Amino acid sequence: MAGRQAARGQEDNATMTIEIRNLTKSYQTGEFDLQILKGISFSVKDGELCAIMGPSGSGKSTLMNILGCLDTPTDGEYLLDGENVATFDETRLAQVRNRKIGFVFQSFNLLKRTTALDNVALPLLYAGVEPHERHERAIAALNAVGLGDRVDHKPNQLSGGQQQRVAIARSLVTTPSLILADEPTGNLDSRSSVEVMDIFQRLNSQLGITVMFVTHEPDIAEYTRRVLRIRDGYLGADEAIHEPRSAAAELAARTEVIPFPATV
Ligand SMILES: Nc1ncnc2c1ncn2[C@@H]1O[C@H](COP(=O)(O)OP(=O)(O)O)[C@@H](O)[C@H]1O
Ligand SMILES: [Mg+2]
Repeated sequence: MAGRQAARGQEDNATMTIEIRNLTKSYQTGEFDLQILKGISFSVKDGELCAIMGPSGSGKSTLMNILGCLDTPTDGEYLLDGENVATFDETRLAQVRNRKIGFVFQSFNLLKRTTALDNVALPLLYAGVEPHERHERAIAALNAVGLGDRVDHKPNQLSGGQQQRVAIARSLVTTPSLILADEPTGNLDSRSSVEVMDIFQRLNSQLGITVMFVTHEPDIAEYTRRVLRIRDGYLGADEAIHEPRSAAAELAARTEVIPFPATV
């Protein structure tokens, strides 16, 4: 992952990771065509960290699934690193989903009876990586999210925040250049939410990974530099945040709760 740091960054001449043009998505329900996305265009540069907001049902997940190559648009273009996704065959799509993009869900989507380590290593198994390397890389990814001491825990032995960090480690283990997260803090308490933002901010600033996530919470969107708002099937606003919040600084400022009874 270290090699990427020099190559990526926030410089102005960064290439586009995502370019969508006049993207639409409709669902056929009975005799009606239910139009969810009605023509959305925007670009996201390599190395950006941005949030997507919008009312419930406005098509945020629909959009994220298209960006993650988990779904296809009805019309319009999607260029991923300059390549038109519509031209990808199934093999190429699987490759992109497995190597280029990491996806994080609101409900974590971990295998319940499987340890953190094996959950994280799973994408590498699919990618045909050897067992020893799978193990090493899964450990490194869990270390990167601060869970090096929880590798043998199963999801029900972890808090919601820790489960989401395992899910982020799983999205990271294939060294993607883009992480897409659909309401990653939707099921988390405030501290865990800031921890997730801390991880995203570090992955973005230290490794140059492009991160886009959906959130309902305006204060969570403020950890980014850019907020895209979806309204009535259109891009309603594209706002810059001039002074993003720093999750690391906020976590450091929070007083640690001392477990009771305190042992010395
Ligand atoms: N497979 C589907 N068939 C029909 N309608 C769908 C389907 N998936 C989503 N929708 C509808 O599309 C709209 C947008 O859904 P979604 O993208 O999940 O919104 P959001 O994530 O912004 O809450 C909703 O009204 C939803 O009911
Ligand atoms: Mg949604």
